This record gives sequence, C-alpha cells and structure tokens, in this order.
Amino acid sequence: MEVIICPNAQRVGEVAAAKAARIAAPIGPKVVLGVATGSSPVQTFAELARLVASGDLDLSEASAFALDEYVGIPEGHPESYHEIIRQTVTEPMGLDPARVHVPDGFATDLQAACRAYEDAIKAVGGVDIQFLGIGSNGHIGFNEPTSSLSSRTRIKTLAAKTLEDNARFFDSIDDVPRHCLTQGLGTIMDARNVILVATGTNKAHAIAQVIEGPITAMYPGSVLQLHPHATIIVDSDAAAELTLIDYYKATYANLPAWQRLDV
Ligand code: GLP
Repeated sequence: MEVIICPNAQRVGEVAAAKAARIAAPIGPKVVLGVATGSSPVQTFAELARLVASGDLDLSEASAFALDEYVGIPEGHPESYHEIIRQTVTEPMGLDPARVHVPDGFATDLQAACRAYEDAIKAVGGVDIQFLGIGSNGHIGFNEPTSSLSSRTRIKTLAAKTLEDNARFFDSIDDVPRHCLTQGLGTIMDARNVILVATGTNKAHAIAQVIEGPITAMYPGSVLQLHPHATIIVDSDAAAELTLIDYYKATYANLPAWQRLDV
C-alpha cells in the first residue's frame, strides 16, 4: 500500500490524477476507469478533465464503471449517481456516454441488474484504475461495515451513519434512499490498480483504520491492505490519526526517479 500525504485537497486531486495518468499511459485510450461519487474525487476528476483537454491524457475510447447507485431514484434525479457521474466524469472528461456504466437502481429485477453489471465489467476485461473515496465509517462504494470481504455487486442497506452523512444532499434524512446497488469488495479488489482519496478530519479515523488497523469487515476499506497496487492519497487533515506519518512523507520525498510523479 502506497500512502501519500498532501498539504491540501487541491494537491490530493493533482497527485491522484497524475498517478492515474501514469498508469493509463501504457494502457492507451481504451483504459477502463472505475469511478466514485461523493465529494472526495471531485478535484481528481476535474484534474483528469484538464489533462484530457491539454492533450496529456487520451480517454477517447475509455470505459467507466461507477461503484454504486441508490435504489429507487430515477436516472435524471439530481442526486442519482447516474446524474452525478454524468456531471463529474462523462461530460468533463469527454467520455462516450455509451461506455459509461452505472448500476441500474431502478431495475424491476435488481438482482439481475447486479449480475449484468458484473458481466459488463468482465466483458471489457476488468477495471484498470479504480478511484475510491471513503465513508466516515470506512465504507468503500456502499460496502457498509460487516460487508463480506469477497462480496460481488449486490443490494445493500445503508448504515445509519451513511444516511446521516448523505442527508446533506437531500431535503431531509427521510428522503435518503435506504437501499443501494454497489460493487462488492471482491469486485473492487479485482481492479488492477486502486486510488483512494480522502480529505478532511471527518475521514481521519477511517483512514487510520484502513491503512494501519487490522483487516476487518468493520472497516471495509481495510481489505485494500491485500491489494497489490493500492495508493491512498490524503490531505493532512485526513492523515491526522496515522502513526507512521513521517515514514509515508519520507518515502514519497525519496521516491526513485522512475517512480516520481510529474506534479
Ligand atoms: C458515498 C459513496 C462513496 C463515497 C462516500 C464518501 O456514500 N457511496 O463511494 O466514497 O460516500 O463521500 P464523500 O466523498 O462525499 O465524503
């Protein structure tokens, strides 16, 4: 696990995008992205869009797969993840909408929709770069505490903490859907590279548990300790509860030339 501590959220986005661009370069324009909603990756996606606009990143034939979607809110709803991915990923990065996939939380057969989603990821050869945020309870995607560490795309019930955290996007907490479809932890672990970004003190405890705690379903993101190519990029607020801050900073400051990011 690579841990990079940045001075602020803007820098987190720049470093995460530079890391992704480095991974994407040898893969070429058909790179497959795994994309997340939430406020955490917004700067990263804006920076990726800038790299596309400047010609430094070619996503002309890229596919994208969102992590999750609420159950029961239609595609055009402003808080549907279909809509958020359209606004933060598809349009700014100039992706072909036909290649951007979001689980169908409005399907009449939700289980079939989950199976179809797994099949669609397999059909393009799997995800090359999975972007992740993290919930304050340690969830990734909507894999709430006690999720199976080998789970696949399925229906989940949101934890009380997540309902509370996401209430800010709705008129009231009662309007937050209770159910969602989410890629499983096993699905996320199949991605060839993972980049998790987190900012703010609200994430400090989850980040410390995910990076330095035991691997446990109580902090689902901790499964990334088993991933061979996981990078976690945080600002100093989200890093506040880590015990090995000096080590992570020294490691990044002394990267061998071939590993250094051009940011
Ligand atoms: C949401 C999403 C996650 C996201 C997390 C944190 O509920 N399902 O993919 O990482 O919660 O959101 P934010 O980045 O806004 O704090």
